[in-house]
Amino acid sequence: KTIEKGSVTWESPSNIALVKYWGKKESQIPANPSVSFTLNDCKTTTTLSFSKKKSEDAFSFDVYLDGEKKDGFKPKIETFFKRIEQYVPFVKGYHFKIETSNTFPHSSGIASSASGMSALALCLTSIERGLTGDVDDKYFTQKASFLARLGSGSACRSLEGDLVVWGQHHEIKESSDLFGVKYPFEVHEKFKNYQDTILLVDKGEKQVSSTVGHNLMHNHPFAQERFKQAHINLSALIKVFKEGDLDEFINIVESEALTLHAMMMTSMPYFILMKPNTLEIINKIWVFRQETGSKICFTLDAGANVHVLYPQRECEQVGEFIKNELVAHCQNGQYICDQIGFGAKEI
Ligand code: PMV
Repeated sequence: KTIEKGSVTWESPSNIALVKYWGKKESQIPANPSVSFTLNDCKTTTTLSFSKKKSEDAFSFDVYLDGEKKDGFKPKIETFFKRIEQYVPFVKGYHFKIETSNTFPHSSGIASSASGMSALALCLTSIERGLTGDVDDKYFTQKASFLARLGSGSACRSLEGDLVVWGQHHEIKESSDLFGVKYPFEVHEKFKNYQDTILLVDKGEKQVSSTVGHNLMHNHPFAQERFKQAHINLSALIKVFKEGDLDEFINIVESEALTLHAMMMTSMPYFILMKPNTLEIINKIWVFRQETGSKICFTLDAGANVHVLYPQRECEQVGEFIKNELVAHCQNGQYICDQIGFGAKEI
């Protein structure tokens, strides 16, 4: 079937890893399994308009962010198109207009690659579905996650919620290195509506791109131990999610965050991506937890910002603490209140 032109729109969230993906093999295959909370409010909306073109010899597209043309994004998307072409051959037959916007400020230090790449992958999979006819929902989501992975590894965990696993793990038979899958086991109600307040400590350009970062794990002296540890931590989390042991949750999640940074500090070249305020915040969280018995904890991405995680029933108490003690360490006092979400949707 051929379609002359049309347009599709998808909205897709960001996600925050609990067991981190850090290190990959060829073709965006993760060196270890990871699991993440899908976010609710941090998301990207992308409209993909397409029109048939005559020649099929090159990719043709324009990118707009918040209505402004952004040629700076083209190389990344060109690379993405090259990687996915063999799986969605129709891409060379169309000119695309990619119009995208984020709910969080661009260059806020929050990576838009997970939400952005998953939204774009979903749009492309929708177009493919239009061209080839009906496919079932499971196939659709897997294919979109597969394509998203080729854009940015962690993006393959943004399509569904509230927990997504990516990368083979022996206890999770549905898990795959090729796409994310919805966490298949029981999750204790203590994790329902879990909160994530993102403290924007440093909004500057990323010091280390994730491509460079993943490559640092090649020939890294501790890489093999780290990859083993991720499997062990994911096993431990399966039990935690079932039983609702929040103290054990805290141990695993904080250790994962610090290990991610430890990997960067012990690679060659080496990097410190935390800022003094990152450490101030971590210390204050530890003191607060000790003094109040709160189940608050932190996690980090490959940057200085801090994700503060806590159960919904602690919203009021932790909310006050964040406002009174932590916001002072944010750049321009900026932070984003988010919580666990349920994945992407077509608009
Ligand atoms: O998806 P990438 O290649 O940008 O890698 C993201 C890696 C971390 O955010 C640091 C960890 C993760 O699992 O999301």
